[in-house]
Amino acid sequence: MTDLEQLVAQATAEFAGIADAAALEQAKARYLGKSGTVTELLKGLGRLAPEERKLAGATINGAKERIETALSTRREALRQAALEAQLRAEALDVTLPGRGLPTGGLHPVTRTLERIEALFRSIGFDVADGPEIEDDFHNFTALNTPENHPARSMHDTFYLENAPGLLLRTHTSPIQVRYMETHKPPIRIIAPGRVYRVDSDATHSPMFHQVEGLWIDEDVSFADLKGVFTDFLRNFFEKPELRTRFRPSFFPFTEPSAEIDMSCVFCDGNGCRVCSHTGWLEIAGSGMVHPNVLKAVGIDSEKYIGFAFGMGPDRLTMLRYGVNDLRLFFDGDLRFLSQFK
Ligand code: DAH
Repeated sequence: MTDLEQLVAQATAEFAGIADAAALEQAKARYLGKSGTVTELLKGLGRLAPEERKLAGATINGAKERIETALSTRREALRQAALEAQLRAEALDVTLPGRGLPTGGLHPVTRTLERIEALFRSIGFDVADGPEIEDDFHNFTALNTPENHPARSMHDTFYLENAPGLLLRTHTSPIQVRYMETHKPPIRIIAPGRVYRVDSDATHSPMFHQVEGLWIDEDVSFADLKGVFTDFLRNFFEKPELRTRFRPSFFPFTEPSAEIDMSCVFCDGNGCRVCSHTGWLEIAGSGMVHPNVLKAVGIDSEKYIGFAFGMGPDRLTMLRYGVNDLRLFFDGDLRFLSQFK
């Protein structure tokens, strides 16, 4: 019987040392399989005398049962361990912050354009649009800039190859012309858009933005231009104390013409690096629409009069957000752009 006790102990120890389910089944076969140790012992019972056989049989079967118990205990332990390993591998920490979807944002210049549109809409201006590929007539001729007029050389123009007379518009002023061709006064519009010139440095980009303004009616005066534009700037920069200055200038499509300066928004006109210590920032061109422009679009210049202006929203954006290099707006670098979300 000590042999059987030993056998049970050996089987139990062997099972306990096995960490792999398949190996455990192989070990089982060595004890309980067709020619396993226990099976062989049971087969040997037949050779015993009937009185001995009963006791020996009971003893061997008892040992067999204990080996089977050891086996199923180990099976269960391995099953549990496998399950735990799987759960650990598939563990999900629901307390971790989500990865989330990165949210986009509007480009700072788009924000400025939307702000400008909202401010002008609030005083009754419509928003007009026009093509970026323009013809010579709308970009120059109808704006009182005849062939060989020196004003044409003020703009370094991108002309289209193999398309005579077509160019990338150099300003948003042609939208004035297109709008007046299709609408009768009173006309009150702004027209934002991309414009193109052969120019590139820290303050000039070959593509930049302008916003055109146009108000035509029977009695629109230079005083209206001053009031509308000064009010716009004060609202745009949220600075009620902001001042403007209209300096005589020249544009072929306005007479008289004026350059609009505003008191520097950084030093309130006291002089700083941004305004080159002048206290003033140049912000737009403007003037009373030249009668020749009205004639070019068939509007009676004896009856109607008005003002126009053209400003640079890129510059306004730089000033509003304190950005010192225009090119940052057009490089598409998300490290810069995502700061405006
Ligand atoms: N188109 C001019 C430019 O690009 C800006 C401008 C000046 C527009 C005076 C106007 C204006 O409407 O009246 O330089």
